[in-house]
Amino acid sequence: MSAPNPYVNTDQAVKALQSGELVAIPTETVYGLAAAIDNPLALQQIFKLKERPLYDPLIVHISDLTMLESLVVNIKHYPALMTLAKHFWPGPLTLVFQKNQSTVSDLITSGQDTVAIRIPQHPVTLELIKKLGVAVAAPSANPFKKTSPTSAKLVGQYFPDLKILDGGHSQVGIESTIIRQIESHSVEILRPGMITPEDIKRIPGWNYEIKMNLNTQGPGSMLEHYQPLKPLFLIKGNDISSEQALKLLQMNMEVSFLQKLNLHKRLHALKINELKLDADPFISARMLYRQLMELSETSDIIFINWSLNNTQDAWLSILNRVEKAATKIIFAPPEFTF
Ligand code: TXA
Ligand code: MG
Repeated sequence: MSAPNPYVNTDQAVKALQSGELVAIPTETVYGLAAAIDNPLALQQIFKLKERPLYDPLIVHISDLTMLESLVVNIKHYPALMTLAKHFWPGPLTLVFQKNQSTVSDLITSGQDTVAIRIPQHPVTLELIKKLGVAVAAPSANPFKKTSPTSAKLVGQYFPDLKILDGGHSQVGIESTIIRQIESHSVEILRPGMITPEDIKRIPGWNYEIKMNLNTQGPGSMLEHYQPLKPLFLIKGNDISSEQALKLLQMNMEVSFLQKLNLHKRLHALKINELKLDADPFISARMLYRQLMELSETSDIIFINWSLNNTQDAWLSILNRVEKAATKIIFAPPEFTF
């Protein structure tokens, strides 16, 4: 029997991918669960291991723009996307193009005629893709609906037998922004991330409208997603302490809801911990998932105090993840006394 989690180097990862195995790869956003895009059995294995439904398409990771040309068609019809690619790649941005039917399989795109692609900003993974000479499809390296891992260690907690290429802690910390071009003059954000509308509008000469569309299909847009192993409560409106949070939960929760969470009998004895965000949204994004996973080990309940002053685009991307990860959102009125 092999020891849990064989950590591999880049050459070993290349060999594993060539022989149809999956490898966890580091990216600047979160770790990915990678398969070579020319290996249908390996692509199927991604869905099996993650218990992910086949209707949820995968993101293709490439190392340079030459690879892009072989995967998409009608590239000239996407000037806005090419402007974004030139400006933000390598980086935490995924762009949706019309796919080349002969190089991108339906397994990757769930039968759609578009493909989501990005060049990740991580030297280890860029080297891996270059050496492999083939793009890799990689969703986040977590079981379906769970929190995405931002370190090799966290990947190992989910998948103890998986080969892992360790590239340190993910520097961005939440998944890439996903954008598609809908008309000749506008683009649509399908999943917000740390590349924000504010960043895009700063591109010199940018003259496309930016719309938000967070209602398309796919788990990235589902209500329950990114869930930690313990219940997470999002408190808005008033910063409160652990003791106050517990009282507020008691007052807000129906017994049946607490029973479902297996909590109500020993509510007074619960270990409740606050996930404290930083004043800087970029630091908050970097630590969000790691803290959710680490606090899940030491707490029965986790809560986050959300400042209503955090209205910057980068904060709204973080709020998007926190709201989906939350078991419940509770408003603590400012005049509330405990
Ligand atoms: O930062 C990231 O994007 C990470 C790292 C590993 O690169 N990957 C990631 O993959 O978050 P995943 O599978 O967890 O989320 C991919 C999202 C899904 O919500 C899927 O619906 C959407 O991308 N997607 C994939 N192909 C698409 C397409 N052709 N059109 C629209 N959305 C697409
Ligand atoms: Mg995911």
